[in-house]
Amino acid sequence: MTPELFDGLPAQPGRRLNPEDTADIAFFRNTIWEYFRIAGRPMPWRDDPNPYWVLVSEVMLQQTQVPRVLTRFPRFVERFPTIAALATAPFSEVLAEWSGLGYNRRARFLHAAAGQIVDEHDGQVPADPAALVRLPGIGVNTAGSIAAFAYNRPVVFIETNIRRVFLHFFFAGVEDVHDRDILPLVEHTLPLDRPREWYWALMDYGVALPRHAGNANRRSRHYSRQKPFADSDRQIRGRILRLLTETGAVSVADLPDATGFPAPRVAGVAHTLAAEGFIRRTSDDRWVVAD
Ligand code: ADE
Repeated sequence: MTPELFDGLPAQPGRRLNPEDTADIAFFRNTIWEYFRIAGRPMPWRDDPNPYWVLVSEVMLQQTQVPRVLTRFPRFVERFPTIAALATAPFSEVLAEWSGLGYNRRARFLHAAAGQIVDEHDGQVPADPAALVRLPGIGVNTAGSIAAFAYNRPVVFIETNIRRVFLHFFFAGVEDVHDRDILPLVEHTLPLDRPREWYWALMDYGVALPRHAGNANRRSRHYSRQKPFADSDRQIRGRILRLLTETGAVSVADLPDATGFPAPRVAGVAHTLAAEGFIRRTSDDRWVVAD
């Protein structure tokens, strides 16, 4: 996707669009659709939006960008081809396949969600957002995205890229915008006959926008930067889990040196991981991944 192509489209209305004005709504829809027609991004879970692939990809995409997910998703669904395969796999194997995606709690949630889908939904990913939010790790936005992408349901939801698009077109110059003010516009502009493609198109447009128009999300009430990774507890968590996944077990005494962080911090993070059920301490004082 080149900037020229983007700039050639009517991307910049130059003013705040008026949702009451049918010409403005038509302009908005045409802009998004035209961009998607020219620059829509192919992805395996779009080419085949079966509910299992959509579930896995949406959890991966919660905090990881598309290019990185593209490197991990195919191996993940090859190793765990069905909900049942994922549900019955040992957690240590799921965690090993998650490596490189970060935010490992999501692997735990996804594994637990697969178990719950097998136990309570006959192995079928629910289509109803109210049922989806009862699964571990699935919030309202992920529930909406799964219902829209897997089942083509015209649900109303928002996520970071969608939010950016609406701030850009309908809230130009407005600060501190709340999602509750954006959601009615998401609903108002949603084409009921093509929700799946529409949300793909909104997301692609929202990803491209900052390269051309700055990051409108700074004007969202909900804007927060991802905290720096270096020297964070998140980095120590990642190190410990990678080490245990690769080596099987590490003695409690050796863990600080093996991770390269001070002993009190490592002990604290290890205990949190144990309390969350990721790892456990064996009777001979070693840490292992909990299954
Ligand atoms: N396509 C389908 N789901 C997506 C997501 N969560 N982010 C970006 N593109 C997507």
